[in-house]
Amino acid sequence: MLKDKKILIGITGGIAAYKVCEIIRECVRRDAIVKVVMTEHAKEFITPLTMQTLSRNVVFSDMFSLIKDYDIAHISLAEFADLAVLVPATANVIGKIASGIADDLLTTVFMATKAPVLICPAMNVNMYSNPVVQQNMTKLSDLGYLFVDPGYGELACQTTGKGRLAEIPEIMEAMETALTDKDLCGEHILITAGPTQEPFDPVRFISNHSSGKMGYALAAMAKRRGAQVTLISGPSSLPPPSGAEFIPVLTALDMRDAVMSNLNKATVVIKAAAVADYRPITVSPSKIKKGADSLIMELVRNPDIIAEIGKEKGNRLLVGFAMESENLIENAREKLEKKNMDMIVANDLTQEGAGFQTDTNIIKILYRNGRLEELPIMNKKDVANHILDRIRALKAEEH
Ligand code: PMT
Repeated sequence: MLKDKKILIGITGGIAAYKVCEIIRECVRRDAIVKVVMTEHAKEFITPLTMQTLSRNVVFSDMFSLIKDYDIAHISLAEFADLAVLVPATANVIGKIASGIADDLLTTVFMATKAPVLICPAMNVNMYSNPVVQQNMTKLSDLGYLFVDPGYGELACQTTGKGRLAEIPEIMEAMETALTDKDLCGEHILITAGPTQEPFDPVRFISNHSSGKMGYALAAMAKRRGAQVTLISGPSSLPPPSGAEFIPVLTALDMRDAVMSNLNKATVVIKAAAVADYRPITVSPSKIKKGADSLIMELVRNPDIIAEIGKEKGNRLLVGFAMESENLIENAREKLEKKNMDMIVANDLTQEGAGFQTDTNIIKILYRNGRLEELPIMNKKDVANHILDRIRALKAEEH
């Protein structure tokens, strides 16, 4: 999404300025075109040479050089940007922009740009909670400026609290979101992800290899595209996508309860979770000790969550996944029809680059009208966007 996008990075004078190096590198890695403007105070923390080397572009900081470069490049920095990112944003510069003060190159450019502006505040905890700073941010937010809230933790001034620059993946995600068309606005997408764990004593359980990557990618992409997202996830080490409602669960029974009690608000349900079909019939309250050479465990069927949703689907669009190791298409089509889905995404575990834990997937999409679509290997974010495109097309057909 950042590919070929023009990103203007505005750096102000805070200790978090050193973290901007990594942000610029990540933008360049994603093939964005980056230009940097710095305040004089920012140069006390980090050098223009570092920024120039990383961004592969001249760094701007005073009005005079802007005028000179404007003549050469026939383009001002304000007009250059598809997205302007103020990082780190000090209380001082936030206050200036909120008050319409443009007394240096950075504030002038940020005032003049028509591009979306993303502000990433970083400052001392007391400054951040100061009502004047809060009011300035509320004012800017009401005017359409975008914010990435600072995190909570240890600050450079040796205090702990809210004020440290948000983590870099969160800032990158906010940049991607700012540049993505909001074509799923108005949809509420309920997504399940990850495995379920079915315990048989306090230390052991039956589960599977799902990492959650496929479901979390769907949640992140749907969020980027403007949908409201509820992510119901079995145990996963992935961080929940920012801005999504996140409901962690453990067992298939927990997942069923969470899904059914959140179904009303959903316009689309995507079931990417790998739900255990069976659970141990009894759960020992204490650790099962080693004893005989063999142990027989009785299992009982878990509820089929997607089949339950299919029965009370209403106007919702229901998308299932089929994870198969043989007869992919036949088995997927049977699930699609039997469980009243609108579309099923089939992946074959035996194909390299598909299924559990990989960053890629190879999918085939089956529709109710019999159509079958085969997609090449792609990373899971691109797979997610393709699935969301198809959901959008099906929704458009309905109207
Ligand atoms: O998480 P990753 O490591 O990224 O791996 C991704 C994935 C392989 C888990 C994912 O792409 C996938 O295929 N998810 C569905 C796995 C699965 O359970 O498939 P299934 O064919 O057993 O189930 C069919 C459908 O019924 C699925 O939508 C499933 O969520 C649903 N189901 C299954 C059993 C059950 N008791 N209730 C359900 O709702």
